[in-house]
Amino acid sequence: MVKKTIAVLLGDGIGPEVTREAVKILQTIAKRFNHQFCYEYGLIGGVAIARHGHPLPEETKTLCRNSDAILFGAVGDPRYDQSPDASLRPEQGLLELRKSLGLFANLRPIKSYPALYKSSPLQPSRLKGVDFIFYRELSSGIYFGEKKKTKEMASDLCLYTREEIRRITVMAFEAARHRSGSLCLIDKANVLATSRLWREVVQAEAVKFPDVKFTCLYVDHAAMQLILNPAQFDVILTDNLFGDILSDEASVIAGSIGLLPSASIGTGVSLFEPVHGSFPQAAGKNIANPGAAILSAAMLLDHAFHLPVEAALVTKAVEDSIAAGLLTKDLDQHAGISTSEAGDAIAKMVLEEEMDSV
Ligand code: IPM
Ligand code: MN
Repeated sequence: MVKKTIAVLLGDGIGPEVTREAVKILQTIAKRFNHQFCYEYGLIGGVAIARHGHPLPEETKTLCRNSDAILFGAVGDPRYDQSPDASLRPEQGLLELRKSLGLFANLRPIKSYPALYKSSPLQPSRLKGVDFIFYRELSSGIYFGEKKKTKEMASDLCLYTREEIRRITVMAFEAARHRSGSLCLIDKANVLATSRLWREVVQAEAVKFPDVKFTCLYVDHAAMQLILNPAQFDVILTDNLFGDILSDEASVIAGSIGLLPSASIGTGVSLFEPVHGSFPQAAGKNIANPGAAILSAAMLLDHAFHLPVEAALVTKAVEDSIAAGLLTKDLDQHAGISTSEAGDAIAKMVLEEEMDSV
């Protein structure tokens, strides 16, 4: 029996409705295993700007620091996209949170689901056996370098230090060692100085992991390989911007970006969030896929609370619900069950699943 506090940041768009389903699943786990989870809600993103005039109010930061894990929904609101010069944007809340909590590694697992092969734009032969994970650097690079913008010019500085690269590299190699044993660094070392530093640092670490097969790919070629032969990958290590772009691309392999979870890990408390954004067109309609949010909750159980059995049970329930055709509109345009129905179905499976099947 464990007793933990979870900071829940619902955020904008579909954030609240998918995160509610993730909480439903966590509560189901708590009930089945007699754990005690206490949820504390905080504001972030557009809703926080509307209420407090800032996308990451001080009280939300404090709440996160004092919790055992953070469950995050989504940020982003098209109202702020109309004026790109707006000094306050919902996304700043998430970026500031990542930076201030030292969340330097973003783990994004990608898996293909046999039950979804038939609706994929990729041939089943390319999808078979795909199971890899991105280690995306999350708290540095072009996202956080100095930004300048005048009427006539603009610039974004991409800066990495040796140590910023090294710490995520070690984490990624450790992961590769416990998975299929290969790691691919994706960069643009034929053009970018930062990428050349990445190669130097990663190569130096690779020597310490002789049991891991280490390869490098340029990002343009990697974008193609991800579609041509995704099954070749095991651990992909990459910087902040490339990781952002390639993980959206890789969502096609899973069948929907609505199925991709992530864990952001660093020096203190960890944060768990879907890879998808706030999907404002679907907000409040009860049609969004809660899969990514629920799988993020499974990652939370595993990484933050060290409850691998509970995590595996949740993951299996999501997989079983997909296999049983219990799909939301992003995966089944016609029949499509609702967000809350999908959550209910997964909760029922979590409650009833035989333990020896996980
Ligand atoms: C993500 C998102 C964020 C990012 C946005 C919301 C700032 O796209 O987590 O992938 O670019 O990192
Ligand atoms: Mn993204």
